[in-house]
Amino acid sequence: MTISAHSGTNAGSSVPAVDAAAILTRQRSRESAARTYARTLPIVPVRAEGAIIHGADGRRYLDCLSGAGTLALGHNHPDVIQAISETLASGAPLHTLDLATPEKDAFVEELRASLPAGLGPDAKLHFCGPSGSDAVEAAIKLAQTATGNQTLLAFTGGYHGMTAGALAVTGNVAVKNPLPASGSVVRLPFPHPYRCPFGVGEASDRNAGPGGAQLSISYIERLLDDPLGGVTSPAALVVEPVQGEGGVVPAPDEWLTAVREITRRRGIPMIVDEVQTGVARTGRFWAVEHSGITPDILVMSKAIGGGQPLAVIAYRAELDVWLPGAHTGTFRGNQLAMAAGRATLRRVRLDGLDDRCARLGARMLAGLAEISHGRPQIGHVRGRGLMLGAEIVDPSGEPDSAGAYPADPRLAALIRAESLHRGLIIELGGRHSAVIRLLPPLIITEAQIERALAMLADAVDAAVRRLGSTPATPAAPGPPGLPGSGPGRRLHAGCGSRERPDTGREAT
Ligand SMILES: Cc1ncc(COP(=O)(O)O)c(C=O)c1O
Repeated sequence: MTISAHSGTNAGSSVPAVDAAAILTRQRSRESAARTYARTLPIVPVRAEGAIIHGADGRRYLDCLSGAGTLALGHNHPDVIQAISETLASGAPLHTLDLATPEKDAFVEELRASLPAGLGPDAKLHFCGPSGSDAVEAAIKLAQTATGNQTLLAFTGGYHGMTAGALAVTGNVAVKNPLPASGSVVRLPFPHPYRCPFGVGEASDRNAGPGGAQLSISYIERLLDDPLGGVTSPAALVVEPVQGEGGVVPAPDEWLTAVREITRRRGIPMIVDEVQTGVARTGRFWAVEHSGITPDILVMSKAIGGGQPLAVIAYRAELDVWLPGAHTGTFRGNQLAMAAGRATLRRVRLDGLDDRCARLGARMLAGLAEISHGRPQIGHVRGRGLMLGAEIVDPSGEPDSAGAYPADPRLAALIRAESLHRGLIIELGGRHSAVIRLLPPLIITEAQIERALAMLADAVDAAVRRLGSTPATPAAPGPPGLPGSGPGRRLHAGCGSRERPDTGREAT
């Protein structure tokens, strides 16, 4: 095991002298109104190693965003730098369309060895354009080609990207509204432990009846079998095992298993989007391994390229019916990304980063639960592995029928700003951008986790003070086994994951 806060091969103690304020001003005047992170994280990164970014302002930032989950090994990991350097020095062509190369061959070997066992040795790979959205497009097109159907089944809260097809299956109304409707997408309810789509809470309760997860399954089954239900034959069902941009919402394992069964019995290809959850992020190499389901099409990007752009789908051989050239793209042969990706997949495998991620994720989740004690503005904490979220609410508002308080996006934004002020980079996601998201690199150290939690707790208090909202109060006594249960807060009781303790982006 070589886990450490590595220093990175090109990390120096000095930071190049640049005028950060001038660069930020130029960016504001030159780049589009649609810029996102640049607005909320006004820093100019100049060096980085591991989980640390050095800004041109001379400050160090603890990066709990890691390129929106891309940098599994953190910034400038020595393995990645070495792989890229060797490829550069080798004289190999760097751009090769979809031609075979030794680098690609080696990457494919490593990737295939990591795939969920159920996909089997016959699984086919298709290299897509370089982004996660490109891979989602390819998966949808493949399923539509194979079935001859158009209709797609997708979930509330889902995020799959910004290109036309990927956006069609995305739930976020704000980024879809200005555009004409594209294609036929049937929206299905994704279980949510806090903002339950049925208003009853996620878990079944002997007294209160079935929970949201069970109702979701009944609804999907009945809808698909209803001759008057309005759903024409589906081409595919698209789902994330943990909704990331949707506010860090893990799918309960039993629910995902039931969805798999529903699709299997009806011959509907199941596309699992692991763009964000893949490569050990959730505590298993692929998040589907928690439930043991096998997708028909697995969508991969972000971490598989080791920080460089790369996107691939893996799918059952029977689906490989499209014609030569049916789905092309210029940038499908990025050799540097394949080298960086192979080094990353290998290091994650050799160091057992999935288990480490499960362990550190459990600590971070417990830490978030501790922070929520006596801070009723944290309505709910949840996550899986190192993909964590805390829902920021207004505890003075009216709770809904499931006990959830109104989202407080203003406070969430202030917490993000106060975190940055303290040197912690986090992002927001979820409904109304009121969920604080933590996506640190998998190599984050235990000490860094404690530092991140301490900075976050401080930031919450400072933001609450700034907003003139209820100050932090001592923890209210909670039910046995649950430390503190003040108003507005519920702890995620878990969805069968082995790493979860008993306690419970805004646009990409
Ligand atoms: C689950 C999921 N799918 C697809 C995408 C789109 O990926 P990209 O931004 O690379 O197009 C994202 C991006 O965050 C994602 O989280």
